[in-house]
Amino acid sequence: MNTQSIIRQAARLSVAPMMDWSDRHCRYFHRLMSRHTLLYTEMVTAPALVRGGALHLLDYNTEEHPIAVQLGGSDPKELAAATKLCVERGYDEVNLNVGCPSDRVQSGTFGAVLMRDPGLVADCMAAMKDAAQDIEVTVKCRIGVDDQDPEVVLPDFLEKVSDAGVNRFTVHARKAWLQGLSPKENRDIPPLDYPLVHRMKEEFPHLHLSINGGITTLDETRAHLDVMDGVMIGRAAYHDPATVLLGADQAIFGDTAPARTAHEVVEAMYPYIETRMAEGIRLHSITRHMLGIFTGRPGARKWRRILSEGASKPGAGVALVAEALSSVPEHIPAD
Ligand SMILES: Cc1cc2nc3c(=O)[nH]c(=O)nc-3n(C[C@H](O)[C@H](O)[C@H](O)COP(=O)(O)O)c2cc1C
Repeated sequence: MNTQSIIRQAARLSVAPMMDWSDRHCRYFHRLMSRHTLLYTEMVTAPALVRGGALHLLDYNTEEHPIAVQLGGSDPKELAAATKLCVERGYDEVNLNVGCPSDRVQSGTFGAVLMRDPGLVADCMAAMKDAAQDIEVTVKCRIGVDDQDPEVVLPDFLEKVSDAGVNRFTVHARKAWLQGLSPKENRDIPPLDYPLVHRMKEEFPHLHLSINGGITTLDETRAHLDVMDGVMIGRAAYHDPATVLLGADQAIFGDTAPARTAHEVVEAMYPYIETRMAEGIRLHSITRHMLGIFTGRPGARKWRRILSEGASKPGAGVALVAEALSSVPEHIPAD
């Protein structure tokens, strides 16, 4: 299999790009739970890389593959230059953000506002594709913005952007309201329209289409996969990673090797934590992503409390994580 088909296979399930959440520590942790799921970075803006020289934003651990980097921007030349940097760093996919509604991002003409200008997105993607060579360039978009009619806008967007050579899209199945709603509200308030996104797969059967928004379990994922090529999960993967990721290799990718237990995942983080702390990273920067692993299990509250209260204190290290872990029973007692 070449890289593109491996990534397309991995894209059956992906963890969404999430600013301040899906950083390299979080991705390493998620990777311990699923070998196959495609992991996205937080958005990195093309100006930060190309004009600001902030190449450290592209740092990742090789264990994170398959890994996609998400770029923000709307200048074809700058995006091409940024894509080249990402490809040189070994990313498996370069994705453009056409879904993020935040003010800061609007002011730079990035993100969801680009749903209004599919011609510009097509130009950006053509330039990125040229720079990416064999690495696939993809788009993450909404179904529309503001008063746009998604039934018209989404197929038009997919057609124009795929004409530029893009074959893989992830659609967050709700509109973004660019005025009046915060980024957080824009992830909850505009209603989800799964049937529209499913219809896009019928209309564009040659495209690889993933659906995103409000999906929280592997059962829901499998139901969407009856129609769609892929499912992207954001908040549920972050807040309840055990439910979403621990059985994913078996349920979604047909892996026959047994899944790790949540305890094994935490213990497998110890060497990583020690290595990063030796480089000066604070324990809290890593453990903040691990708080949800025991969601819904006895001891979960104590696990969270010990880590939240202790991980920022001087001297806190792996011993604190081990102490927190000992408060969670490894086997859930039968009634
Ligand atoms: C904290 C946070 C940060 C996010 N940052 C990004 C981002 O950088 N780029 C992006 O395309 N979407 C971003 N999103 C949106 C998610 O990728 C996803 O589209 C959205 O949360 C809906 O999926 P979910 O219901 O599975 O969470 C972010 C979401 C959250 C919760």
